[in-house]
Amino acid sequence: MTVPLSLEKQAFELDAADPQPSRRAEFCVPPFECRDGEGVAACEAAYMAGNSLGLQPKALRERLGTELDDWARLGVEGHIEARRAWLPYHELLREPAARLVGARPEEVVVMNSLTINLHLLMVSFYRPTPDRPAILIEDSAFPSDSYAVRSQAAFHGLDPDTAVIRLAPRPGEAALRTEDVLAYLAAHGSRIALVLLGAVNYFTGELMDIDAITAAGRAAGVVVGWDLAHAAGNVPLRLHDSGADWAAWCSYKYLNSGPGSLGGVFVHERHLTDRGLPKFAGWWSTDPRTRFEMAPTVTPVDTADSWQVSNPPIFAMAPVLVSLEMFDETGMAALRAKSVRLTGYLESLLDEVCAGRQAGVITPRDPDRRGAQLSVRISDRDVGPVTDRLRQEFGVYADARRPDVIRLAPTPMYNTFHDCWRAATALAEVLDD
Ligand SMILES: Cc1ncc(COP(=O)(O)O)c(C=O)c1O
Repeated sequence: MTVPLSLEKQAFELDAADPQPSRRAEFCVPPFECRDGEGVAACEAAYMAGNSLGLQPKALRERLGTELDDWARLGVEGHIEARRAWLPYHELLREPAARLVGARPEEVVVMNSLTINLHLLMVSFYRPTPDRPAILIEDSAFPSDSYAVRSQAAFHGLDPDTAVIRLAPRPGEAALRTEDVLAYLAAHGSRIALVLLGAVNYFTGELMDIDAITAAGRAAGVVVGWDLAHAAGNVPLRLHDSGADWAAWCSYKYLNSGPGSLGGVFVHERHLTDRGLPKFAGWWSTDPRTRFEMAPTVTPVDTADSWQVSNPPIFAMAPVLVSLEMFDETGMAALRAKSVRLTGYLESLLDEVCAGRQAGVITPRDPDRRGAQLSVRISDRDVGPVTDRLRQEFGVYADARRPDVIRLAPTPMYNTFHDCWRAATALAEVLDD
């Protein structure tokens, strides 16, 4: 080791003393062969990629087995007779999902994938007029959001290049300043139909000020939606109280529900009884009490369920339920407190690694302005090989956002201080070459 990083012993001591122990043993952590003085000693990866795809809870295999068994045993009768009846299965997810995002149960539904949900919600909440045609997003929005809003503008007959406004950070800065978003809304809000921002930016890890931006948007008559892909299960949320009009998230990142797993949707209660909102409908939009009367028209319900379209996939909901149970057990407050400690520790180690190199953390320094993720800009090389070597040689999973950023996210559910130490020391070795 050529960089005098803090002692490994200290990382172990931090783990031993932490009031919120890691639940790592309850997850399938990718294996990694570690060597010690005696030869190969089996050990696990330091998995810092939970901001991309969370790890598999061990409890899931048995839960999926239950659903498979019920299907095998009951066939179609599983809709009623399965141990967790399939017809109302999605209702099992409602309350824990609402707790997770700080919503009322009726404001939340788990369904579809994230970008599909963005579209379904924009059917209702992007209503451009000649005076107010624009959608405001952040310049570093995740591409799927960018494509979605551009296609929505085009769908309404507008030119996406003018209808979609991309708000960029100040020159030389990586993160958007809240005051700049507020100032933009105050100056140009009258032209904006919809604001759609990532609550935690996928690239920089910046946590936006949801309350302040929502309030400013609504004061300007703008509909405010949030993409919570990197926020759900990462930071505490209080969507209802924030007054946000709507939000959508995925559950394959911090929510550990598996690749491509189902998303969630929040619609503020003030919209739930608005019969004037356009929606795309299907048989799961209608009132379940009369669904099987097979009527030709929808009987509306006054919950977020009315944005559902199709009957929900049970094998995709089971992982979300397992995950939400784990989040309920630990609680977002405890997870967040641990997250702040882990990320702060990793930040201090990364600062040591970056000192004197053409590298530095671009995520905001204030713990209130970020979640678990730290993004590191490395200016003197292609970052692709950096993350390849981290994984292959050191068992450290991070990801590269080319050309020059790597992302590391110590997730409080299963990462340890020792993982942070491994990640930082491995990065130091790779950057030394
Ligand atoms: C911020 C953000 N929005 C949208 C998406 C796309 O999600 P999906 O493929 O589930 O539609 C992602 C995926 O990582 C994301 O990070």
